[in-house]
Amino acid sequence: MTTLAIIGAGSGLGAAVARRFGAEGFSVALISRNQGRLDALADELGKDGVYARGFVADVRSPTSIASALEQATEALGPIEVLQYSPLPQKDFMRPVLETMPADLVGPVEFSIYGPVAAVHQVVPGMRFLGENRGTILFVNGGSATTPGRNVTGTSVAFAGQAAYAQLLNEVLGEQGIQVSQLIIPGKIEAGDPDKDPQALAERLWELHTKRDRFRFTVGTD
Ligand SMILES: NC(=O)c1ccc[n+]([C@@H]2O[C@H](COP(=O)([O-])OP(=O)(O)OC[C@H]3O[C@@H](n4cnc5c(N)ncnc54)[C@H](OP(=O)(O)O)[C@@H]3O)[C@@H](O)[C@H]2O)c1
Repeated sequence: MTTLAIIGAGSGLGAAVARRFGAEGFSVALISRNQGRLDALADELGKDGVYARGFVADVRSPTSIASALEQATEALGPIEVLQYSPLPQKDFMRPVLETMPADLVGPVEFSIYGPVAAVHQVVPGMRFLGENRGTILFVNGGSATTPGRNVTGTSVAFAGQAAYAQLLNEVLGEQGIQVSQLIIPGKIEAGDPDKDPQALAERLWELHTKRDRFRFTVGTD
């Protein structure tokens, strides 16, 4: 049995990815801020034959991320795939000239410190699993690559996350750990051929299994 950890696991993309990897035999660690919601999602996935457990963390607290991932590893076994995909807060998205230093604290904690904490927690276990097993997947909106004048916090912080992910892709790639980024311009839309959560989950599965590219931008690739 092998484990997928989803940091920022909700009923949209998180659930779809849990189902996709669960269908391949992964057990799933669901990580977000509310134990009740996590337990409800784990129950729902259980009815579909996916073994999932919820672990509480706030991605703006690096220690809570480390602790949730440690508990998940103890309960479910070494994490083979890490997905970092919490949904950013609406108040991160302010027009550029209305954005003050204090407005960037949240986005940077959320999109840069959180990923760094998560990566440091899982990489030793991925090395232990051996080459060409471990994968780290980042999921972002379009502002990660095309900054938007009215979504300054995510534009600035996603760009930092994208740079971090690209550096990891180079360095961890040399150690047989795949690092990839899925960019979703616009909204996730049920029923859309490219942007339905199930279609996006399939893309993430392909990034993990094919291990041949850093970035996939939905709708343009
Ligand atoms: N939804 C869209 O239209 C859209 C568009 C483009 C890109 N994306 C990307 O898709 C991913 C999200 O997919 P989704 O929208 O379908 O969401 P989802 O997987 O249904 O849920 C994401 C979860 O993130 C959790 N979260 C938010 N803030 C958090 C925090 N500080 N700490 C821990 N967990 C936190 C929330 O749970 P709690 O509130 O219970 O903590 C939420 O349930 C993100 O990577 C996002 O950038 C989404």
